[in-house]
Amino acid sequence: MPMLLNASDYRRRARQFLPRGLFEYIDRGSEDETALTRLRDSLDAMTLLPAVLTGHDRRDLDTVLFGRTIAAPLVVAPTALAGLVSHDGETKLARAAARVGIPVCISTQSVTSVEAIRRGAPDALLWFQLYVWRDRALTARLLERASACGCDNLLVTVDTPVSPNREYNERNGFGIPFKPRLRSMIDVALHPAWLFGVLVRYLMGEGVPTYGHYPEAFRTAITRAEIAEAVRLENRLSWDDMRWLRGIWPGKLTIKGVLAVEDAEKAVEIGADGIVVSVHGGRNLDCLPAPVDCIPAIVGAVKGRLTILADSGVRRGTDVLKYLALGAEAVLLGRLPLWGLAVGGEAGAEAVLRMVLREMDTAMAFLGAHCVPALRNGRASELRN
Ligand SMILES: Cc1cc2nc3c(=O)[nH]c(=O)nc-3n(C[C@H](O)[C@H](O)[C@H](O)COP(=O)(O)O)c2cc1C
Repeated sequence: MPMLLNASDYRRRARQFLPRGLFEYIDRGSEDETALTRLRDSLDAMTLLPAVLTGHDRRDLDTVLFGRTIAAPLVVAPTALAGLVSHDGETKLARAAARVGIPVCISTQSVTSVEAIRRGAPDALLWFQLYVWRDRALTARLLERASACGCDNLLVTVDTPVSPNREYNERNGFGIPFKPRLRSMIDVALHPAWLFGVLVRYLMGEGVPTYGHYPEAFRTAITRAEIAEAVRLENRLSWDDMRWLRGIWPGKLTIKGVLAVEDAEKAVEIGADGIVVSVHGGRNLDCLPAPVDCIPAIVGAVKGRLTILADSGVRRGTDVLKYLALGAEAVLLGRLPLWGLAVGGEAGAEAVLRMVLREMDTAMAFLGAHCVPALRNGRASELRN
């Protein structure tokens, strides 16, 4: 078995295991993938200045985030349909995150419901990601379920008003709802380990994998053509909706997908606890700037009034440190844990998270940063003590 030493190794192995349609759904961007390229370029172009002779021989990654101490400034990002990557994949991700001591955010569009994930991962620090449904009463009911399962941070995703233009999904036949086509059936048949290890296991147990949170009356088999109007994703969201959510959600409220300073200011005004500066992994609008170019102005304007998280494009521990150095307080990982999940289920997801932690630790040693706050503001060299 080839050694799995970095994110590229895991990605390569995941590519062999997953049907091409599913692999590309996870891996790729949108349109011409310039946002994806820009993301990588922005992180690769950034450097960190070390402090030498700091006299520390251990690094401490503990982080206080939203008032709670976690083992590292990392969060497993919400990813729709992670349950298709491995059987019961969302629960496996939650268990892996719990073992590492970091939160995991469950997507509205997960295959497994938050209740089942909570049962399978009782120790997990669960967050919940919301795509607001047209029917607000059903949306509110969903939030009650998430809250009852102990999710203490709601990430409301606001950067996806319509379905992104992903032409490769058209070409390779992957879509939601899934439409059986000859091409996708051949694709699945060519990946028997996934077919029997994931799909057949669902078919023999729970049945056709579905969106686990959709209410019983609207439950949508992925093969069904129409998603009922009530649970269609709301594309007319406004700040009033965020005020409404602030009013009904008892826990922390974080707005995911903020890039402009003005929007970060509005998030403060409506009483949000946090924002995620994110380009959705380069999967949505192809002409977005990179978070690296947006974080400093946002930090300058709102820091201290809400918690700033960041994501998109992280492939190395050093990428995490770069977002932290710019002022983010924690970083979400989307694709990386999914590659681990594909390669080795729960153990694979945990291995990837531990790999990122190791890379962070090594780089912090070089930077002379003995703790996370010493990295902030991109000036590790000026924060020695
Ligand atoms: C397969 C996949 C599904 C995703 N589904 C969601 C989702 O349901 N809700 C959401 O807010 N973000 C979703 N995202 C975006 C992630 O939460 C995160 O912003 C992004 O993946 C970070 O970039 P990275 O994958 O380069 O780490 C998804 C990302 C991927 C790769």
